[in-house]
Amino acid sequence: MTHSQLGQIEQFAKKFHSDDPQHDWEHIIRVRVNALELAKHYPETNLEILQAACFLHDIGRSVKDEGHPEESIKLASPHLQEIGLTNDEIEAINHAIHCHDVKKIHEANSIEAKLLFDADKLEILSVFGFLRVVVFLMEERHMKISEAVNFLWGFSLNVYEKLLNTEEARMLIAQDMDLLRAMVEKYNSWDQRIKH
Ligand SMILES: [Fe+2]
Ligand SMILES: [Fe+2]
Repeated sequence: MTHSQLGQIEQFAKKFHSDDPQHDWEHIIRVRVNALELAKHYPETNLEILQAACFLHDIGRSVKDEGHPEESIKLASPHLQEIGLTNDEIEAINHAIHCHDVKKIHEANSIEAKLLFDADKLEILSVFGFLRVVVFLMEERHMKISEAVNFLWGFSLNVYEKLLNTEEARMLIAQDMDLLRAMVEKYNSWDQRIKH
């Protein structure tokens, strides 16, 4: 993949992220930064495939939230063909996008897929990302704040303890997880005091 093709993919993906404050373009930029940081430890990584997958992984959210990775693939594939990527390149990008779902990560068979997953999930496990997703759950899934905080904390613990693919990702996020654990405990102790 050439530098210019990667640039075209970036421009294409940007158009899908204009009016979603929780999954705006800054989310994509942070996922890409995380992914490139992790890739330093895995020199076999194809950095173009990884970055293309970072750019495209959430474009399907413009259609729907649940099942968006498959929508992202549907939207991206014709564009990738049009700009002249090989079938192998398109398959590698699509595989990474497909596997960024917690229900699909066990299917990952490439380092690019594993790193995209970790980079994307670091976004939730960071203090910043946690707040972003709590707001999303309240607005889009109509959860109450205590429900959103505890649901997301359970999800985050599962990702942190069981699903992350790399030790490097775990190390990068350990401090944020400590802060979040303390915050959730404090939140719940206040919540109890209010209710009783
Ligand atoms: Fe996603
Ligand atoms: Fe994402």
